[in-house]
Amino acid sequence: MNDRDRPHGRELERREAEGPVVVDLHEPIYREMAEPRDGYEPAPSWLVFLCLFIMGFGGWYLGMYSGAFSPKVYNENPAVGVRAAPPAAPKEVDPKVLGRRVFNNCMSCHQQNGQGVPDNYPPLAGSEWANGRADVAAAIVLHGLEGPIEVAGKHFNQVMPSWKHLTDEQLAAVLTYVRSSWGNSGTPVKPALVAAVRKSTGDISRSLRADDLTRLKAGRPLGG
Ligand code: HEC
Repeated sequence: MNDRDRPHGRELERREAEGPVVVDLHEPIYREMAEPRDGYEPAPSWLVFLCLFIMGFGGWYLGMYSGAFSPKVYNENPAVGVRAAPPAAPKEVDPKVLGRRVFNNCMSCHQQNGQGVPDNYPPLAGSEWANGRADVAAAIVLHGLEGPIEVAGKHFNQVMPSWKHLTDEQLAAVLTYVRSSWGNSGTPVKPALVAAVRKSTGDISRSLRADDLTRLKAGRPLGG
């Protein structure tokens, strides 16, 4: 309390007459700051700014490098210092694997070992048709086959359904599988070849017969 604030004159006389006033006694206490307590000091402003900077930097860093947390991009355990190997080119389905799977369609007649069923279903193993010209084999599978036909020296006269609902890739794969299994030695068949045969024989809407196969081999057009 400095001198100017001290009661003086009448006020001083009045107060002295009244004795100490409670309010006056408390005045100095009010002016004092609360006693500092351990652990409650306000955080220094440099620390506050440091925290803000770290959070800001973290946000910026994630924004720049997190790859939007896409599972294709985000790698939480990158090999430090090792450049990631370039992504492997999408593996082509092995035609033999796909062909083996498509062959499930054929097994009920031609059998798992490609031997067929005597007198009913001709063998694919050792068959001149299965191993012969790829375009003829493709046409058989695309359109089906019926009527008398000789396969590996034996005569058959049954009906084989058309498989044109399968894709070029599936048919090429199953033919490739057939032509390279059970001792067969036909060349692999490409989907493009199946597509070409599908196109050139597209107007046939019946099963092929032995004479169609002869015409195909000679490169002559098939009758309707
Ligand atoms: C419903 C029974 C059946 C199914 C299923 C079947 N075929 Fe046939 N396949 C035959 C018959 C029967 C013949 C002979 C047709 C004839 O007598 O004119 C034949 C003939 C063939 C021929 C020419 C003759 C030979 O033995 O080489 C090939 C090639 C052939 N089939 C491949 C296939 C393939 C590939 C599949 C599967 C996509 C398949 N077949 C599914 C019954 C079937």
